[in-house]
Amino acid sequence: MHNKKITLYFFLLYLLLVNSFNSTAQSSLINIVPQPAEINSVEVHHFFLKDNTNILFVNTNPEDPKIQYISQHLATVFSFYHFNITFQQEVCDTCMGIIFKINESEKTYLGNEGYDLVIHLNHITISANSSAGLVYGFQSLVQLAPPDVSVQPQDSLLLPVLHITDYPRFEWRGSHRDVSRHFFDVESIKKHLDLMVLYKLNKFHWHLTDDHGWRIEIDSYPKLTEIGAWSVDRSQQRWTEGTPPAEGEKATYGGFYTKKEIQEIVAYAAARNIDVIPEIEIPGHCSEILAAYPEFACDDYSYYVQIGPYWPPKAILCGGNDDVMVFLKKIIDEVVELFPCQYIHIGGDEAYKDNWKVCLKCQNKIKSLQLNNDEELQSWMIRDIEKHIMSYHKRIIGWDEILDGGVTPTATIMSWQGDKGGIKAAKQGNKVIMAPNSHCYLDYYQADKEDEPEAICCYIPLEKVYQFDPIPEALTDEEAKFVKGGQANLWAEFISNTAHAEYMLLPRLSALAEAVWTPKREKNWDNFITKLPTQKQRLKILGYNYCDKIGKIK
Ligand code: ACM
Ligand code: ZN
Repeated sequence: MHNKKITLYFFLLYLLLVNSFNSTAQSSLINIVPQPAEINSVEVHHFFLKDNTNILFVNTNPEDPKIQYISQHLATVFSFYHFNITFQQEVCDTCMGIIFKINESEKTYLGNEGYDLVIHLNHITISANSSAGLVYGFQSLVQLAPPDVSVQPQDSLLLPVLHITDYPRFEWRGSHRDVSRHFFDVESIKKHLDLMVLYKLNKFHWHLTDDHGWRIEIDSYPKLTEIGAWSVDRSQQRWTEGTPPAEGEKATYGGFYTKKEIQEIVAYAAARNIDVIPEIEIPGHCSEILAAYPEFACDDYSYYVQIGPYWPPKAILCGGNDDVMVFLKKIIDEVVELFPCQYIHIGGDEAYKDNWKVCLKCQNKIKSLQLNNDEELQSWMIRDIEKHIMSYHKRIIGWDEILDGGVTPTATIMSWQGDKGGIKAAKQGNKVIMAPNSHCYLDYYQADKEDEPEAICCYIPLEKVYQFDPIPEALTDEEAKFVKGGQANLWAEFISNTAHAEYMLLPRLSALAEAVWTPKREKNWDNFITKLPTQKQRLKILGYNYCDKIGKIK
């Protein structure tokens, strides 16, 4: 045979072998969630992880919290092995062990969060353009090991020889948590953040204020937490049957985060490549504010920190009282100090304006500003707050209702009432985060109601979350560029403890992760389901509660 033909023959044979190994390897050994962008398995061999394996950090900063997270967690996950961890500047071709390396020259296909994970016969290399990518490469390495690696001594640990090239489909991969309807302590939030990094999610949307409790310490307005963080205790009643406070009854149920605790959580998140986005809800959902500072209401109703269902929410900050704007801006001044991320979420949803309609101050404001209606008064308040937030070089996010009275081009819209808000926003050139209540509301039932803990309503089983695509079909390719990503929301009306919160999050949050990380072409429900038993084993060992049923799509 001609030389070229021989080369071609062997090349084709090689492709055949590689491909046939790929499919078996992916089904039996590779249980990474979210599914990586590309997996190439080139040899049917294994790397053995042994005692005294060298761990080398190359071209990284030992002070970088993400690098410290990796080195500490390597020791926790592979707890039965002793590793020699060293840091060095130069890349070495003959190094053995596990090498975490920042690329000397940037590989554009990886972006800021992607990574290459190459397992050779005698060493492993995880390389990325940034330490964020190394955090994610590390997660994939951990998920290639058996789930019980941290609790069960193994004689020798086998890892498949392969090459993964991986990067996210979307920059916004969010998980939201309501801590107002019920308060959750720092440990509960840290466990949530640990889950997020496991699934390569990077935005923690922290719903800190609402009718049922104000959860963030603000020095200028101490009554927000002295009064606003506490309701009367109805923990022994069903949520739907909570009785209003009795005359003189003490408010003892709730809690809040001190500034120190918030800083601790923000740092914990940052080490896991997670930005924390605080939500300070305006102008509605504010009974707890009005309980503490009744002067910011339109009326003289005696507001209290809510218990149980509260619908429609009557409480609204007076849009015609200039002191309200001073109050909100002072709060923002303290909030921006605590949260280094680029965004502040200002809420804006479900602001029922009955009080505004009969408030002289509000109506005078509408006239003096030559506004057309109440929606435009809300829009004016939000624009004013946005200006203040932008003076800190930060941007606002608001729920899709903020579109109603008009928004500035700089506002980012979070689409929750299905995808229509997202579509409208993207078509007019606003950035969008998709969190539609058709696919992303993890407080809804996930299996047949009869056998499930009581939930707020509705039905979103695992497969429905899996089907979520952040890009609505109605958008052109150009318009779709405004969609930054997607997010799952966990409202806590019916969720009062960590075990229940985890039950609602899991495994649905892992399905959301494939929707926001994995390239569309690699998403595959059957493959996801195949990976589920290993995932659940891992979650159990990590101490998480999860739902073991798979509700059918109806
Ligand atoms: C929402 O669910 N009210 C944003
Ligand atoms: Zn008013």
